[in-house]
Amino acid sequence: MSRKPNIAIDGPAGSGKSTVARELADRLNLLYVDTGAMYRAVTYFAIKSGIDVENEAELDALVKDIRFSLVRFTKSGTVVLWCNGEDVSPFLREKEVSSQVAKVAAAATVRKRLAWYQRRFARTDGVVMEGRDIGTVVLPDAEYKFFLTASLDVRLKRREKELRAAGKSWTRKELCYELTYRDEMDRKREIGPLKKAPGAVVIDCTNLTVEQVIEKMMESYGGG
Ligand code: DC
Repeated sequence: MSRKPNIAIDGPAGSGKSTVARELADRLNLLYVDTGAMYRAVTYFAIKSGIDVENEAELDALVKDIRFSLVRFTKSGTVVLWCNGEDVSPFLREKEVSSQVAKVAAAATVRKRLAWYQRRFARTDGVVMEGRDIGTVVLPDAEYKFFLTASLDVRLKRREKELRAAGKSWTRKELCYELTYRDEMDRKREIGPLKKAPGAVVIDCTNLTVEQVIEKMMESYGGG
């Protein structure tokens, strides 16, 4: 049997990547990999250990001690990121993690280590992997590449809804600062910046439903 394809989805925060990637993985029976969760997990451990998130040497020692694994629950199809055998997902959307993660994601040592794990996850079978540098750095040979965009207003509304559903309260001002600041850091960093990969299909999700975005992706998938 031939190997399943890899699908890379990149785009800024709140562009709808997670919902779409999860749904697409489900439909195509591919493994869903949320790489942002991995950067968030490193940030969570850094905060917990009192590490300076701008100190590359301290981050290097920390990230080398984290073993990442993906646990797929067959019944629900949910994929959960485990770190050293612990499910850290309840902590990844904390305000402090969200406000510090872009600094951690700028560290070369962290990016290198996480990209190694991400490629390993993709080696086992086909994946739908979402992030910022998947089509450009992590899986440049992915069979399908997408770059999702959406207006800031729509991205803010989406994030607000997600956070509300998770029981977290953010003011609009806090959220706006966090999203724009993080995007700017993600775009400007030297290694693995947020960027459309050559050949990636751009989908502007501002006025599209999840189903319409999936349809567009399936058109490329079917036509590829
Ligand atoms: O997708 P997210 O908002 O959960 O991502 C959290 C942060 O991690 C975001 O600021 C960018 C960073 N990130 C990255 O640098 N590279 C990736 N492949 C995924 C996320």
